[in-house]
Amino acid sequence: MKIIHTIQELRELLHIWRAERNTIGFVPTMGFLHDGHGALMKAARQDNDRVVLSVFVNPTQFGEHEDLEAYPRDLKGDAKLASSCGVDVIFAPTPEEMYQNPKAFVDIVDLSNTLCGVTRPIHFKGVCTVVTKLFNIVQPTRAYFGEKDAQQLAIIRKMVKDLNVPITIVGVPIVREADGLARSSRNTYLSAEERQAATILYKSIQVGKEQIKIGMPASELISSMKSVIQGEPLARIDYVSVVDAETMQIVEFIDRPVLVAMAVYIGKTRLIDNFSYTIGR
Ligand code: PAJ
Repeated sequence: MKIIHTIQELRELLHIWRAERNTIGFVPTMGFLHDGHGALMKAARQDNDRVVLSVFVNPTQFGEHEDLEAYPRDLKGDAKLASSCGVDVIFAPTPEEMYQNPKAFVDIVDLSNTLCGVTRPIHFKGVCTVVTKLFNIVQPTRAYFGEKDAQQLAIIRKMVKDLNVPITIVGVPIVREADGLARSSRNTYLSAEERQAATILYKSIQVGKEQIKIGMPASELISSMKSVIQGEPLARIDYVSVVDAETMQIVEFIDRPVLVAMAVYIGKTRLIDNFSYTIGR
């Protein structure tokens, strides 16, 4: 497995693979890889002749007071896991390689103004911009995204559709720890006590999954999920919301496919989780 740091060198390699008519699977990440990323890499390995993984902590998707500097980095560890998942090449550019005084950005309206977009107003513009750049650099056949970041996945799907990007987007289910906590690079910020408290997100999801089946309207569902979370003294709710699974707009009546999503601070660490629901499925 190769590690490449420049766009030019990656393009030269990809040029050869494309000339050999290989299909290319692409997994964009910010590194500090765990089994959640592992599921994406394995899916890409299964579906494609070649697999490209990017590891880039993208500065444009972090707000001014967010954790850009503190975000965990471990390229050596990432290379080990990536190699065991069958990745062919890791693209790990520097911020300077990716951005030189940029003036062009990709933004997607409406889907970005709910859920995480409220607390993180510039986040999805940064995500769409870097993903577009990476798509243009790699030009993959398929690209893999986790359902853990469900709003990000919906936004990327819409972006690809609206901008006629010739790449198939594949969504991969959430990978969880044994006690239900969704795997996340940010879990490393949690103290032992906070790690225990963080299980409250999944507990509220389990309650939500039971209650949504009996036809509760969104407002009641949200209050009962919130009251589970409020029982945990270390937890502070950012949001618990029910949105249309495609448009990401708030709904009250669950008469279409929905996403039930939450962001909760455990101490200073902001964690997200979600589940999808369609009546009768
Ligand atoms: P990152 O947080 O590193 O996540 C990379 C990919 O891994 C995303 O598609 C995310 O949804 C997926 N992922 C993370 N944890 C997961 C889990 N527990 N189960 C399943 N999939 C999981 O998301 C980003 O990076 C960035 O925003 C990026 C798309 C790379 C753009 O910078």
